[in-house]
Amino acid sequence: MNVQQIDLLVYNIGSLVTMQGHPGPRAGESMSNVAAVKNGAVAIADGKIAAVGPEKEVRDKISGLTIIEELDAQGRLVTPGLVDPHTHLVHGGSREHELTLKLQGVSYLDILAQGGGILSTVRATRQSTEEELYQKARTSLDIMMLHGATTVEAKSGYGLTVEDELKQLRVAKQLNDTHPADIVSTFMGAHAVPTEYKGRPEDYVKLVIHEMLPEVKQQGLAEFCDVFCEHGVFTVDESRRILTAAQEMGFGCKIHADEIEPMGGAQLAGELKCISAEHLLAATDEGFERMREAGVIAVCLPATSFNLRLQKHARARKMIEMGLPVSLSTDYNPGSSPTESLQLVMTLGCLNLGMTPEEVITALTINAAHAIGRGDTIGSLEAGKQADLVIYNAPSLAYLPYHFGINHVDTVIKKGKTVVS
Ligand code: NIG
Ligand code: FE
Repeated sequence: MNVQQIDLLVYNIGSLVTMQGHPGPRAGESMSNVAAVKNGAVAIADGKIAAVGPEKEVRDKISGLTIIEELDAQGRLVTPGLVDPHTHLVHGGSREHELTLKLQGVSYLDILAQGGGILSTVRATRQSTEEELYQKARTSLDIMMLHGATTVEAKSGYGLTVEDELKQLRVAKQLNDTHPADIVSTFMGAHAVPTEYKGRPEDYVKLVIHEMLPEVKQQGLAEFCDVFCEHGVFTVDESRRILTAAQEMGFGCKIHADEIEPMGGAQLAGELKCISAEHLLAATDEGFERMREAGVIAVCLPATSFNLRLQKHARARKMIEMGLPVSLSTDYNPGSSPTESLQLVMTLGCLNLGMTPEEVITALTINAAHAIGRGDTIGSLEAGKQADLVIYNAPSLAYLPYHFGINHVDTVIKKGKTVVS
């Protein structure tokens, strides 16, 4: 340990979930091993973890060093900072009127086909100034962090013109620069075919490939590219062309795949070796197999299937049985999943996807970190990693999904600094 002093020592941790001991994305049985320590401590220096483990061992390791501040966790539960690997954080407006339509039985894709849904948020986003988008997204990001998220992926996809996509991505960058949470940006110009391109999807695909992607790349505004591969949105062939072009320009690739119809999006994720494939409710076993072979992380979005009243859930148990690394996220957006709470996702992950609390926390920490290319710096509590951790007002891991609908977070520490207390 090569540090001059300890800036913060968190001690008297009743249950310390470290997620140590497995560097890559966790699949199968390794999703159940959260490497929990009783009576633990975490020593932090320069925003990073200097030592972590049983309190006695940590105190031995740091003996002789000055400790600037100590924080008594009072026997509570501590986990790595939660990672939300799939959100549509930056957007204008809200869509509560769709609740009534949904109760009348109108489907999500029908609302979109009638020019509502994503397209209504596109109108609101285009009308919003950068400052308005920033303030709205910042409020949501605050709520995410209050519920334990310390790193959040954010997609564009409500601008659907070169300038409006760039506007959304600039807001995400500004949030990353000014908010304690880290933001990882994804370009998702292929989120819907905008109204002005109705009936000419090919022209829009060309705009995405030849104008949007190069401009986003040139301005360094996104690391990943995502496509909504779905019946009535983008076909498998269009998705392949967009993602292949993105890969050639150096973007990592993600795909909204097989959410409602089994289109073969999971197979495409395997073929293109996407970092992750999302939704997957309708994905087939063959699709899972292609993903497994290619090392694609499955990001399941149980708040979305709950909110869309789909009566169907992603087959997370089957994925885990087949050896796929599974992650979870809020999918926070104003239509299919208007929630910022990863704690709600924990409960739905258990009750609707059949995952255990251990699998759920793995999905929301180390696997989520890998799903956004950050597995080497966050997602577990290990010496040298970023000191992102959450203290909960809860005695055990299972208590989080069990006692649902409330916020259990007591303290959030981001890069060694207390950002929620
Ligand atoms: O991940 N499925 C596509 N995109 C979002 C929904 C966006 C919206 O309805 O505004 C999702 O569910
Ligand atoms: Fe999404």
